[in-house]
Amino acid sequence: VSGSDFAIIGPGRLGRALLARLQQVGWRCVAVRARSSAVAGTLDLPATAVVDDWDNPRRWSAPPVLLLTVPDRQIRPVAERMAAELDLIGRVVLHTSGLLDADEAGSCRAAGAAVGSWHPLLSVGDPAPTAASWEAATCAVEGDPAAVETGRRVAAAIGLWAWTIRPEDKPRYHAAAALAGNITHLCIVAARLELQKCALPPGTPFDPLRALVETSVNAAFTARELEGLTGAIARGDAATIARHLDVLPRDLADAYAALARWFQARREHDSD
Ligand SMILES: NC(=O)c1ccc[n+]([C@@H]2O[C@H](COP(=O)([O-])OP(=O)(O)OC[C@H]3O[C@@H](n4cnc5c(N)ncnc54)[C@H](OP(=O)(O)O)[C@@H]3O)[C@@H](O)[C@H]2O)c1
Repeated sequence: VSGSDFAIIGPGRLGRALLARLQQVGWRCVAVRARSSAVAGTLDLPATAVVDDWDNPRRWSAPPVLLLTVPDRQIRPVAERMAAELDLIGRVVLHTSGLLDADEAGSCRAAGAAVGSWHPLLSVGDPAPTAASWEAATCAVEGDPAAVETGRRVAAAIGLWAWTIRPEDKPRYHAAAALAGNITHLCIVAARLELQKCALPPGTPFDPLRALVETSVNAAFTARELEGLTGAIARGDAATIARHLDVLPRDLADAYAALARWFQARREHDSD
């Protein structure tokens, strides 16, 4: 597949971020298909680009690359509609699920496209990632050979470091991403809510957790495994852990205790 024309199917957080970033590096968006074409006014697009929706489709021919950035559960039905309504012969369709593999868009393959999954490992919200964030991130790609090749080309264009993942590894890969990204986020918010119960003086100049979290995260990234961990769990200080579990809400205490047990098992495994 040559050329750098693309379409976005599903202009949500990732779709819009890719739209902006790909256009920034000189790719041309020819079409955006949304659930409602009312989003047109909120997108920064060339005048030639078409914005439409499934109920009011306009005439456009599928470009070489179609990025399917709908939620995971929508990939299969949307792929079926794409296969029914667009000429996909010789095109590449890439969906962006971290969990699901290329086969989820199998109906596009049956319609003549090469299909792949293309997953950037970063959190894409509002505001969208900066160029520097894209360039510090990796992208797991798998699928038909032409789709993998194109996926790598898309990744290279926006500065992502791409690698080919085995389809059967995707659930574990995605679970690892959720642990590192989402669970960290949840832990910080949960910790902040607990801290707010501690009568911190009003007007604290910055988030008191920031320095702690940043130094801990840096230690985790420089460590080989768990040797950089500090605190009661690392010290095996059961009495302190018990006091923590007493004061935390039940579900958080359960999660904390489960991680402490995981650490203990890991340490025993290392000393075997
Ligand atoms: N955000 C991230 O950090 C991130 C990172 C890596 C990968 N991903 C993956 O990217 C995909 C999208 O995630 P997201 O966070 O961008 O979700 P999102 O913000 O909810 O965006 C999904 C978009 O798809 C649209 N959509 C839903 N059904 C559609 C349909 N039938 N036809 C056309 N458009 C449709 C939604 O429209 P409405 O707004 O009208 O519902 C919305 O604009 C998921 O597979 C996710 O795993 C996300």
